Amino acid sequence: MNVLVTGGAGFIGSNFLNLMVPRYPAHRFVCVDKLTYAANLQSLEAVSGAANYALERVDIADWDAVDRLFAKETPDLVIHFAAESHVDRSILGPRDFVKTNIEGTFNLLEACRKAWGNTKEGAKKQGLFHHVSTDEVYGSLGDEGLFTEETRYDPSSPYSASKASSDHLVRAYSRTYGMPVKITNCSNNYGPRQFPEKLIPLMIQHMLERKPLPIYGKGLNVRDWLYVDDHCEAIWAVIERGVVGETYNVGGNSEKKNIEVVDTLCAIVAQETGTKVDELLGLKTYVTDRPGHDLRYAIDATKIRRECGWTPKETFETGMRKTVRWYLDNRAWVEAVKSGEYRKWMDANYGGR
Ligand code: NAD
Ligand code: DAU
Repeated sequence: MNVLVTGGAGFIGSNFLNLMVPRYPAHRFVCVDKLTYAANLQSLEAVSGAANYALERVDIADWDAVDRLFAKETPDLVIHFAAESHVDRSILGPRDFVKTNIEGTFNLLEACRKAWGNTKEGAKKQGLFHHVSTDEVYGSLGDEGLFTEETRYDPSSPYSASKASSDHLVRAYSRTYGMPVKITNCSNNYGPRQFPEKLIPLMIQHMLERKPLPIYGKGLNVRDWLYVDDHCEAIWAVIERGVVGETYNVGGNSEKKNIEVVDTLCAIVAQETGTKVDELLGLKTYVTDRPGHDLRYAIDATKIRRECGWTPKETFETGMRKTVRWYLDNRAWVEAVKSGEYRKWMDANYGGR
């Protein structure tokens, strides 16, 4: 099976490839990535020499490049992670989000339609498009309730609006052209190899550097945290056992207020580094809130559990400790990302391709 993994050099995509490339030697995995600021090929070092792995530097928003890629690779399965993914960046500059998340998804769907045909008219080839999406498409919950697959879309940020648009396009291709698609809408991921602009790696890094820990608003916003490998396993479970055309919500059943996340991280980092916890707690700083900040996300994952037999393996406590240890053991990874040196290395090695 030829598997195109878009966004494979990012946080979740690279963790996915690190799990699946060695596990399925008979499948060929092609990482399709523009290599934006959020990509890091160091994250793929363990698989980059594998016989069943290849890298294609492609901007999915560039139709000609996508068309050429599909002519060369004709995939059986597309797992679509590639996106601009950071909410704060979408507020500062939404254009790239519309380009990559909407136009990029559209280009991939068009390329699949060209390669696989219209199943309503008899498919040329059996394929599957797995779209990796987010719980943010549902907007914000109040103090009660959970997102189900039937919850109305109500996105708040340019990021979540662009992801919602991409979900609509994927469903439209299923209904109109009979394209075999599946969608997963997942809650907040954390774990190794996450770019240190997101809450958890940013806080760990600031603790190590004794910098202020910026908490938006009052720190009372709630997220449902899931360890990244559990998300990757959920995607594979849906690909293998989910029903074509269906959507599955994925979550960790692990709701935490942001302030609780920061306090837990302070405790773990203090233990793991032999620091006094009060020194880290004293770095907490309340800052201006994010505009349009969703109050609460929480997932009802009954459907994926019932139909695909998936449940998360890590608890918040075990996953957080693993994550802190990874960042402590891989300070060079973070330093390289932050200093821009790795960016320069990638441009020197992959620039102009
Ligand atoms: P990330 O920002 O870490 O990685 C995104 C990857 O996509 C990078 O490697 C980047 O180079 C690549 N990319 C960006 N624009 C591209 C383009 N035009 N062409 C080709 N490649 C491009 O993101 P992530 O956190 O790994 O998220 C992956 C997917 O999962 C996204 O679709 C995101 O919406 C979704 N998701 C993320 C989370 C989370 O908590 N991180 C939760 C639910 C869903
Ligand atoms: O819910 C899934 C989504 O989770 C994904 O679709 C997104 O790609 C991913 O980035 C994430 O979005 P969030 O906005 O929830 O994640 P972030 O890490 O940016 O923020 C988590 C919470 O922490 C949020 O309530 C904002 C807050 N926060 C964030 C940062 C970066 C702070 O209080 N301080 C910070 O410095």
